[in-house]
Amino acid sequence: MDRLRFLTAGESHGPGLCGILEGIPAGLALSTEPIDSDLKRRQKGYGRGGRMKIESDRARIYSGVRYGLTLGSPICLLVENRDWQNWERGMSPLASDAGGIEPVVRPRPGHADLAGALKYGHQDVRNILERSSARETAMKVALGAVAKQLLLAVGIRVMSYVRAIGEAYTPLSALGGHDPTDLFRAAEESDVRCPDPSVSGLMRQAIDKAMKEGYSLGGTFEIVATGVPAGLGSHTHWDRRLNARLSYALAGIQAIKGVEVGLGFEMSRRPGNEVMDEIFHGAPGYFRKTNFGGGLEGGISNGMPIVLRAAMKPIPTLRRPLRSVHLQTHEAMEAAYERSDVCAVPAAGVIGEAMVALVLADALLEKFGGDSLDELKRNHHGYMEYLKSR
Ligand SMILES: Cc1cc2nc3c(=O)[nH]c(=O)nc-3n(C[C@H](O)[C@H](O)[C@H](O)COP(=O)(O)O)c2cc1C
Repeated sequence: MDRLRFLTAGESHGPGLCGILEGIPAGLALSTEPIDSDLKRRQKGYGRGGRMKIESDRARIYSGVRYGLTLGSPICLLVENRDWQNWERGMSPLASDAGGIEPVVRPRPGHADLAGALKYGHQDVRNILERSSARETAMKVALGAVAKQLLLAVGIRVMSYVRAIGEAYTPLSALGGHDPTDLFRAAEESDVRCPDPSVSGLMRQAIDKAMKEGYSLGGTFEIVATGVPAGLGSHTHWDRRLNARLSYALAGIQAIKGVEVGLGFEMSRRPGNEVMDEIFHGAPGYFRKTNFGGGLEGGISNGMPIVLRAAMKPIPTLRRPLRSVHLQTHEAMEAAYERSDVCAVPAAGVIGEAMVALVLADALLEKFGGDSLDELKRNHHGYMEYLKSR
């Protein structure tokens, strides 16, 4: 559970974001290309605000990689905030620059603004919102892209697609027998990352309406991991259960308000004979014909694709602001408005992939160990051979 550890640091309008990932074995081929590609995917999506037009994220590998291969030492990544040039005074670490910009005193409902200011004793909400902002997710995505490279080395792929934005919803799902790779490929063609072209159109219409009328939208996305062998995670303790670890990782993403494993809440509404995945045995060994459980039973991966769903609330900052209260005078007034997305569900799916990849990479290293990639692969190969013999 601690084979792979990471931390991120950085404020939304500070000089940039920093991330440290420890536990990636030596010998993994790594360049900035797959990292930048995922950073770009996070920035896209119909309904994003002006910020995404300013930032064009690129990662810099600061440590842990030499001549294109990981060293086994901590990997440090940096992603600059291009907006920093406009904030050098406003976000300066120097006491002599204090008072450079007006404090934020009208906390926004739905944000950490008020609770954070009360908890940390701040008079300026900016001291909270700079870190609570989802800008931090760029580093989650960058570190997740490294985890994805490790998973790919043993044939594990993590993908996502959007299933709902507001009321616009597609029933397409990896749980409904659709090929996740096809769903993912179709989603990558869509600017709302929805695999269903007719529903993509409805989603765009819903976002246009929200934009025009000054409100925002949330939605749901599905994450699928293929190639995960049976046996990651454990039934022995609550914090070893892979379903719990994956749910925690997704629930830790800004604005995520619900996580489902497999059929999730729908499972509770159906009788038991309809939602268990019956067991068969044939040429490839054990197999299932259904995957209602989303590839997880008793906290352990069972060899079927892992399928998770997450629900994102609507963006809390609204162009038509909600009611709030002045932090010093307690006067009723409208909440502050910072340039904002109208809908970020497509980006949230990409962030979900990153978090799932980090958890699966951790579980993989826990099961197979290995200080070098070769050692990890040998151990993985031996186990896969053993599974075939069962
Ligand atoms: C990809 C992404 C982009 C977001 N963009 C914005 C935004 O532009 N404006 C905003 O007010 N909230 C945005 N949010 C949501 C807030 O970060 C989040 O709701 C807030 O930090 C409060 O945390 P909570 O919703 O988890 O309670 C975004 C979230 C994500 C995942």
